[in-house]
Amino acid sequence: MQLSIIVPTFNEAPNVAELVRRVTAAVAGIDAEVVFVDDSTDDTPDVIREVAASASLPVRLVHRSSHAGGLGSAVVEGFALAESDVCVVIDGDLQHPPEEIPVLYERFLRGDADVVIASRYVGGGTATGLADRTRVMVSKAATALTRAMFPVRLRDVSDPMTGYFLVDRRAIEASTLKPRGFKILLEILARKNLRVAEVPFDFAGRHAGESKASARQGLHFIAQLTALRFGKMSLFAVIGGLGAIVNIAIVWALTAVGVDYIVAAVVAAETTIIGNFLLMERFVFHDMRDAASSGWARFAKSFGFNNAEALIRIPIMALLVESWHISAVLATGLTLVVAFFVRFVFHSLVVYAPRKPGVEPSRARRIIEQIDEEVMQPGEL
Ligand code: GDD
Ligand code: MN
Repeated sequence: MQLSIIVPTFNEAPNVAELVRRVTAAVAGIDAEVVFVDDSTDDTPDVIREVAASASLPVRLVHRSSHAGGLGSAVVEGFALAESDVCVVIDGDLQHPPEEIPVLYERFLRGDADVVIASRYVGGGTATGLADRTRVMVSKAATALTRAMFPVRLRDVSDPMTGYFLVDRRAIEASTLKPRGFKILLEILARKNLRVAEVPFDFAGRHAGESKASARQGLHFIAQLTALRFGKMSLFAVIGGLGAIVNIAIVWALTAVGVDYIVAAVVAAETTIIGNFLLMERFVFHDMRDAASSGWARFAKSFGFNNAEALIRIPIMALLVESWHISAVLATGLTLVVAFFVRFVFHSLVVYAPRKPGVEPSRARRIIEQIDEEVMQPGEL
């Protein structure tokens, strides 16, 4: 099998026969199969089975009982089921002309790309099939925003929102994909640096039936974009924000029972530093822990950094207030914002840096690890 053609479908019954007919004609000479990943609530699966029975190329069907995963998860499931490593993803409504499949495949055979994108916005490509002026504007704005957010990864990509593309399954790590909503190509491109090529195509009108795009899909898209770009950082910010609230609450509670405010501030600061570290370990950097140094070493770095940061931030604030004459509140805000970014960078690059392979651990490190191991032993009484 040279090529697997993955078609996600949701209530596309009137389009199936025509799609299979045009795909069959287009891939003559290529050893190809069609895999329908169907979430329909109408008779689409029956129609697919009927068409499959008389088709001259293998047509397979997976019917899922829920469409909760949506278009993106259907495509990922298609990658897993495909016979060939080389997969083309194409919509089931004929907005993507199947005649373009051999063009994508030939471009791939040149051997310098892991992904070949059929683009509406390159060369002779068009987007005339977009339903109305609003969708044209939404598509253009979303494309511009997405490209601005991933200037490096999407450098060579004019149409990250297209649903028509070829991908070499061996080049992507399917397990890292979190397919939310409609835009699976963006997920693939943003997760990993891949070699990308583009060919133009004419995005046609629907053959039959209705579009499943909705405002809800738009929201999914915004969530996907934020998570892809700011995933770790926004969680980091939430935890930092929670920490600040807990910090204030502890100072308030301790001073209310008569504890000196300096002591209260120190207790509150250290408690939140430790609490934040534990939350970060669990929720933000959990995927980087295994490759990083030991838990105690990470704690030492994080604890040391946060204490140093608090010590440095206060004189800087004083300097801002005294010599720049900005208000104490603004100075606090400014230093906290800068500290937030520095802290994030320090944690992702230093605290959770992967251990260097082949480097013998230092003596101190071995001792710490030994203590660590002892501490983690189950107790024997
Ligand atoms: N399995 C499955 N599950 N398929 C789905 C689902 C779902 O929940 N939702 C939609 N699909 C299928 C449709 O049946 C169709 O084959 C394809 O996904 C695209 O859905 P459309 O309803 O035709 O949406 P569209 O035309 O607005 O969006 C398409 O065009 C965009 C370009 O503007 C999609 O292909 C996008 O990926 C593409 O970027
Ligand atoms: Mn469509």
